[in-house]
Amino acid sequence: MLKALAAVACCSFVSLGLLVPSPVSAQTAVRSQPDRQQWYLNAGKMTYVVGVNEQGILQSLYWGPKLSDRGVVPVAKSLPERASQYAPAATTPQEYPAYGAGIFPETALKVNSPNGDRTLILKYESAKVTGSQLEIVLKDTNEPLRVHLYYQTFPEGVLARWSRIENTGKGSFGIENAASATWNLPAGTGYTHRWLTGMWGGEFQLNEEPLKTGKSVQESRTGHTSHEANPWFSIGKEEQTTEEAGPVWFGELGWSGNWQIVTEYTSLRQPRVTGGYNPFDFHWTLAPGTSLETPKFYAGYTDGGDGEASRILSQLQLQEILPKRGEAREPKPRPIIYNSWEATEMNFTGDTQIALAERAAKVGVERFVIDDGWFGKRDDDHAGLGDWTVTPKKFPQGLRPVIDRVHALGMDFGIWVEPEMVNPDSDLYRQHPEWAMQFPNREHSEERHQLMLNLARPDVKEWMFNWLDKLVSENDIAFLKWDYNRIWSEPGWNMAPGSSPEHPNPDAEKAIYLEAVRNLYDVIDQLRAKHPKLEIESCSSGGGRVDLGILERTDEVWPSDNTDALDRQDIQFGYTQAYTPQTMVAWVTDVPSMDHRMVPLQYRFVVAMQGALGIGANLTKFSDADLALSAKLTKFYKTIRTTVQQGKLYRLASPLTGDPSQMEYVAQDGSQAVLLALQHSQRLRLPYPTVRLRGIDPDAMYRLRPLDPEKYTGEEVVSGSVLMGDGVNLKLEGDYDSTALILERLP
Ligand code: DGJ
Repeated sequence: MLKALAAVACCSFVSLGLLVPSPVSAQTAVRSQPDRQQWYLNAGKMTYVVGVNEQGILQSLYWGPKLSDRGVVPVAKSLPERASQYAPAATTPQEYPAYGAGIFPETALKVNSPNGDRTLILKYESAKVTGSQLEIVLKDTNEPLRVHLYYQTFPEGVLARWSRIENTGKGSFGIENAASATWNLPAGTGYTHRWLTGMWGGEFQLNEEPLKTGKSVQESRTGHTSHEANPWFSIGKEEQTTEEAGPVWFGELGWSGNWQIVTEYTSLRQPRVTGGYNPFDFHWTLAPGTSLETPKFYAGYTDGGDGEASRILSQLQLQEILPKRGEAREPKPRPIIYNSWEATEMNFTGDTQIALAERAAKVGVERFVIDDGWFGKRDDDHAGLGDWTVTPKKFPQGLRPVIDRVHALGMDFGIWVEPEMVNPDSDLYRQHPEWAMQFPNREHSEERHQLMLNLARPDVKEWMFNWLDKLVSENDIAFLKWDYNRIWSEPGWNMAPGSSPEHPNPDAEKAIYLEAVRNLYDVIDQLRAKHPKLEIESCSSGGGRVDLGILERTDEVWPSDNTDALDRQDIQFGYTQAYTPQTMVAWVTDVPSMDHRMVPLQYRFVVAMQGALGIGANLTKFSDADLALSAKLTKFYKTIRTTVQQGKLYRLASPLTGDPSQMEYVAQDGSQAVLLALQHSQRLRLPYPTVRLRGIDPDAMYRLRPLDPEKYTGEEVVSGSVLMGDGVNLKLEGDYDSTALILERLP
């Protein structure tokens, strides 16, 4: 039995490269081998290969280290069936498996045909290479249905895959499940699986377990990306993969609605990852002549360990995903924000905001943001959402005097919005109760006293764009914090195409899941097109909406409402697995935060410096000494900002496993490195462990500039090899101590 399994495993995913001459250069992003019916996709240091087998089925052939331009893998061949001799396609690692012909593992596509057939057999029809993109077209053997598979290679080392399902017939198909891609890993043993889960105030918690036979499902059914799980996966090898080295297959989705990633390990030891739209409560009516496109599923491979996988994703996001300004290669580094939420909540006036702004300017803040509470009858969270006009009680002359003052203080101005929500106690709801998501005879479930607007409706979309456009056009607003503070319930839409109040059609109404997210993307895209300088932060009660779909159109993220400096490190450690520090906003707030612990101000700053530093503390209550320390630390951060936000991150010591934790960042050009070192509590008066740096030039000399000269008393100029081999010793003592060290490479 074992022998037979091994035979299947060795052939199912080929690692043996045969050498045959090929005229094509290794730099080619997509290399076709028409004679072998194979396509080689090169992305950074990775190659991914697909091919057509003798039955005309598209198979995954290889996903691993880059192959040479002369290396070809064996041609595709279906595998001997193990489960049932009548199911010839069930064990072959199909590239985009549709339900049909006896397929029983997770399928990427399930479709009902107009003639009642609920199965498909997709066979290869054609392929087209355009630059760094490959399109492969599959066609059902019976029905007028085509599936277009798209592959986009990125030089950072990532491949994006997505699909388009096209109805070429005269009747409507019903799609029950449409994934973006299935990723087959090499068959074998000893895999580990990592994924991110969480909750409000505790997002991005890293999970790790051996990959066991069966399925592990990560998903959102909340209508948005969710706090409970994030659409990212990572698979390594036991005893091989560490933070610094070893193979890692990893990926993440670009979709801000219901999503699902199924990580499966079959009885035949085949790891597979299938992801895209969540099939839960899903239906899409594919009318004649129309197509359904699935979200992008990005994935990569590295043999540089979990740290390198994160650095690849970070570079992908910086170079390819995040919005850029004009001709810039990188997105703009994030300014230091002051946000008034924790200081005042909704209890403020224009004058109290100005008082905060004056203090913020003094400590070096660059952007002042008024959070929730500036509009409608918004004195607490019972009312006002939907009425997006300035409250005269708080701002008798409108926003203008506050904005002018903020500008005079040398900062730009931002404001909070929550466009997809409505309070029943609002003029908008009284005028348009039908705009809230609902099933007509069922009571609404309120959360935080608010309802979801049905953004799938064209009238809601138009209204939303108009008021946002007016707000930004009439005020000098540089930045919107776009919040989203509840999950979906009663996702009805009886005005959906194909449904009506008289003849409700539940399947047609399910289009709400896709249309609401598409319209959200459209509104943001239109707004940005009209206001090219506008920047946006994605927030959803903290980190409930973080994914590569929203990051294509927003500049940063609020990862959690939990600003306690110790909890925050765990959250940030998880966040950086999947997302770049550039997007990771972190505020220094008052203590105790979230009723947690008393933590010194510098420690809070150093934790917040791990990403895009901001401040949320009530600065009007700061002592002169605290204001002076804050000013010193923001000044220091400005000297390391680009390295932290856009450099290469090395997670030297994890906050999840011990008292000391360290993050190191190396500038893209290697000219600067930064070490942020923290100690949660000192045990037995033991000295702080020696810190060995990584990722710097062993042959270069570095000048060390400590934030606290008394905490680094070593030599000023040290060689890279010594810094990495022998390390540096820091004097961190007691509980919640922290420091930072800048390394400048000498010419
Ligand atoms: C939730 C956000 O995460 C907070 O930062 C704040 O903006 C509140 N919403 C305001 O209601």
